[in-house]
Amino acid sequence: MAHYFENDDTLKSAIHQKEVIIKNQRFTFYTDNGVFSKKGLDFGTRTLLETLDIDRITGKVLDFGCGYGPIGIYVAQNTNAEVHMIDVNRRSLELARKNVSTNHVNVQVYESNLYENVKDKFDFIISNPPIRVGKKMLYQILEDAKEHLKSNGELWIVIHKDQGAKTTIEFLRQFYTVEIKNKNKGFYVIRGTKNGII
Ligand SMILES: C[S@@+](CC[C@H](N)C(=O)[O-])C[C@H]1O[C@@H](n2cnc3c(N)ncnc32)[C@H](O)[C@@H]1O
Repeated sequence: MAHYFENDDTLKSAIHQKEVIIKNQRFTFYTDNGVFSKKGLDFGTRTLLETLDIDRITGKVLDFGCGYGPIGIYVAQNTNAEVHMIDVNRRSLELARKNVSTNHVNVQVYESNLYENVKDKFDFIISNPPIRVGKKMLYQILEDAKEHLKSNGELWIVIHKDQGAKTTIEFLRQFYTVEIKNKNKGFYVIRGTKNGII
């Protein structure tokens, strides 16, 4: 079976509509076979969204690995930020576009393998990053994020302790000032700040 981050056009589509409440707000998300967390909002993503300092989020935001779109759509709904959502999986991108219009938010959605089509610099990069791609690629995603952040930009991620949260925090400390913003049922919400370091 293909991984959720691979493009597999032969995988039978079975689109489901999910009604999801995040912080007392109702969202409609369409999900499908072959995308991450097709059964609804992932608990790690929920923990990340509920931990974000949403009132501080402004400027430009990149949702790296958007899947069907919950992070970017939640941020667009609650801020005035210019939100970009990227993913390598085309089925996820189709759903993300459908979910953007269903939830009446304004977001740019585009295909990108890693940051290859990311041209802008962002104030925030927010991600429930892909784990199954392996540690090498995960670390590349996290390190390269700093090239796409403004000088005071912030990287926010969620990762479970069983997926290597603690070693990931040590890795991030090489490039960012790191703060653990929340821990919930093994999920760590981590903020890495560039602090003016270019
Ligand atoms: C853990 S899922 C998170 C999905 C969504 N943000 C959520 O919270 O439900 C990680 C996402 O990263 C995407 N991804 C994996 N490798 C990628 C790459 N090289 N470039 C861009 N996106 C990638 C996957 O397709 C997947 O949608």
